[in-house]
Amino acid sequence: MKEKILKLLNENGAVYLSGEQVSQILGISRTAVWKHIKALKAAGYEIESISNKGYRLKSASSDLDALALKMMINQTNVVKAGYYFEQIDSTNQEAKRHALSGQRVNQLFVADEQTAGRGRLGRTWASQRKEGLWFSLLLYPEIQPEQASTLTLVAASAMSKAIEKTTGLDVGIKWPNDLILGRKKVCGILTEMSAEINHLHYVIVGIGTNLGQMTFDDALKDKATSIRAEGKSITAKALLEAFLETFEQDYNRFCQQDISGVIEEQKKRSVTIGRRVCITRGNEQLEAEAIDIDNEGKLVVRFDDGSVTALFSGEISVRGINGYV
Ligand code: BTN
Repeated sequence: MKEKILKLLNENGAVYLSGEQVSQILGISRTAVWKHIKALKAAGYEIESISNKGYRLKSASSDLDALALKMMINQTNVVKAGYYFEQIDSTNQEAKRHALSGQRVNQLFVADEQTAGRGRLGRTWASQRKEGLWFSLLLYPEIQPEQASTLTLVAASAMSKAIEKTTGLDVGIKWPNDLILGRKKVCGILTEMSAEINHLHYVIVGIGTNLGQMTFDDALKDKATSIRAEGKSITAKALLEAFLETFEQDYNRFCQQDISGVIEEQKKRSVTIGRRVCITRGNEQLEAEAIDIDNEGKLVVRFDDGSVTALFSGEISVRGINGYV
């Protein structure tokens, strides 16, 4: 009920709604309205109450919590349910647990802190309390298993646009899925799936964006950054809102087999094209020049013998030869 009251106040903007009006619209008693408003205020929502006029939402709480998440879910069609955790092992793990037990609807899992955050290639992902936006999407697209890795590109494109829109910073993409500010990584994406040869069960896209850290461990300090370290400030809530808005459009196009916009975004933002890169495939390491990203999102590279090939993101890892980018 609290979120219904918030939605109603939000829809009415600067207009005051009396307790009587709220109680009639929502079919609850005036006492119940008053109790819910009191709880919303305690949760940080700035609600003005003036006798003889009623209630008006001055500003929403800037905290990302279960209520804020519910409101976001109401405003998007791409996910049908959202789960918020103050602390969890990993939102990707939680999504996996739900995928095995729950309904086949797209879901969102967000945590303030992860105690066992996971990165690509078995690495750990530092996810301290309230220092970043840590979340996973559990998705059930009707696609072939080999198309699932393209979702990483879709997520990278959506998050780049969201960061740029909310902070004004120029976001680069290190193909396929590291988001870069300056020459350092601000966001990483871990895409996992469950499938049979010809049938996809589900995909989990886990995204971690560093928001508040000012210092990093020795191992990370030359290659990691945060939005705050780049001189801007943004709340996890505002960034998630902006992400869902852009992701919804890109995901819908992806489901209709249109990834042209996503490829354009990858090319425009690429910090990989035009550089010499080191490609790791299993135990093999090769050097080449990255020359393009093709229409399927593959990285096109030219080896020193002149041969050109397109590499699929699922099979390799790419690094600049002079450092991380
Ligand atoms: C990478 O190695 O670049 C990928 C990092 C992905 C981190 C995110 S944070 C939310 C989600 N939960 C996890 O355990 N990992 C992903």
